[in-house]
Amino acid sequence: MKIRKIVCIGAGYVGGTTMAVIADKCPDIKMVVLDINPRRIAEWNSDALPVFEPGLKEIIARCRGRNLFYEDAHPEAIPDADMVFFSVNTPTKEFGEGAGMASDLQYNEQSARFILPHLKDGAIIVEKSTVPVQTAEAISRILHHNNDGRHFPVLSNPEFLAEGTAIQDLEDPDRVLIGCEENEAGRAAARALAEIYRRWVPEERIIFSNVWSAELSKLTANAFLAQRISSINAMTALCEVTNASVTEISQAIGMDSRIGSKFLEAGVGFGGSCFRKDILNLSYICQQQGLPEEAAYWKSVVGMNDYQINRFTRNVIDRQFNTVTGKKLAVFGFAFKPGTNDTRDSPARYVCLKLLEERAHLAITDPEALENAQRDLQGLTGKVEFEPDPYKAAAGAHAIVLITHWDAYRKLDYRRIFATMEKPASFFDGRNWIDPHTLHEIGFHVYPIGKSPLLPD
Ligand code: UDX
Ligand code: ADP
Repeated sequence: MKIRKIVCIGAGYVGGTTMAVIADKCPDIKMVVLDINPRRIAEWNSDALPVFEPGLKEIIARCRGRNLFYEDAHPEAIPDADMVFFSVNTPTKEFGEGAGMASDLQYNEQSARFILPHLKDGAIIVEKSTVPVQTAEAISRILHHNNDGRHFPVLSNPEFLAEGTAIQDLEDPDRVLIGCEENEAGRAAARALAEIYRRWVPEERIIFSNVWSAELSKLTANAFLAQRISSINAMTALCEVTNASVTEISQAIGMDSRIGSKFLEAGVGFGGSCFRKDILNLSYICQQQGLPEEAAYWKSVVGMNDYQINRFTRNVIDRQFNTVTGKKLAVFGFAFKPGTNDTRDSPARYVCLKLLEERAHLAITDPEALENAQRDLQGLTGKVEFEPDPYKAAAGAHAIVLITHWDAYRKLDYRRIFATMEKPASFFDGRNWIDPHTLHEIGFHVYPIGKSPLLPD
């Protein structure tokens, strides 16, 4: 089947970015990305893209208006679509059965109902939301109930891109996974999608499975990655009290080829739109299937993360003579990781909330995420400043609390910063990002993660 036009429902992080890369690689395919949020669409059509991602701007400049279009959701876009991607948000349910754990599929359902009257027979549906839990089946059921003989193969094509490296992950993926229904129409649809990826992805990296395996693979991948972080974080408290260094341990175990070196960086805890959501979902599915031990096992990965964030924050308070009331603290970084303006589920939010509860005065700085930080902390009582300049954020502060390891923070003149701070000046390095010995020499009280603190002699 020759794919000439693809429509994507949802111009979010995943939809907006993935479609841009497909448009770039396949100039003969017309890509139309629709969203019900007119502001999102206006941003995609402006110079201020809604997503900060290295390399994205250049791709948009090449493709937008050529074969890539961002448009307000309108039914006229659907009838001549050969393929429709679903990339709408799947937040954790906030109410009713499964609240706090299950996925809220209302946006997928709305999208399916929106396209159904206009879809041509045989159009291929590709599920690409961030949390793909039995979503393909739900979409398929909606599309095929009041059937008039039209059939739409539904594929699951989970997205493994990580923020900050999204373009690289899309252009050179470790694998592309396509889950299809186990019948001829399903397999033909999977081949049509594979044909698109084959333009730039080596054949052996495109793999096929059934729909549920594809969806569950995505959850399993994220659960494993998060579990590695929780496991190394579970060593940090022990290191801090026994004079071992978690960095040395990570290096030593990472060289074991059975373990590997990635995702072993201890820190204040993981964040982002996927890990917590996916693991709670996985845990919920286990629970629903009558598997309480498995449910508890995976949930404990999130439990360890919550504990780590709390432990870090508690330490900030304890080391300030058990009170931060009225003290200025500079928070370095609010994004959930460097290279993005995304603050979804960022540990920074939890740390700041807790410090504000203790009535600290916060000066938050971040090179990209200050606008989102401001939105996340809106309506809170307490003294918070949002300061783009880290030097100004730190001036007069009792401590620096580093939560996001932006490169820029390695290039600062800490001697100059130290001179402007209240004394004793403390440095809580939630990412082991700044050399503790340099900070110590300058005069800071240094509190790394998973290493003994360095205090004045
Ligand atoms: C993740 C998955 O990597 C990606 O495959 C999936 O599609 C979506 O979820 P992302 O959330 O963008 O991607 O970020 P990732 O790079 O995985 O980092 C997640 C969090 O873990 C960040 O807060 C990061 O700081 C933290 N992390 C990562 C650690 O604390 N230590 C590490 O060693 C690695
Ligand atoms: P992700 O990180 O998974 O891409 P986002 O929340 O960034 O998630 O993006 C999801 C997008 O889907 C949002 O821009 C939202 O407005 C859009 N969306 C939700 N429901 C619909 C719908 N029925 N039709 C079109 N777009 C939708």
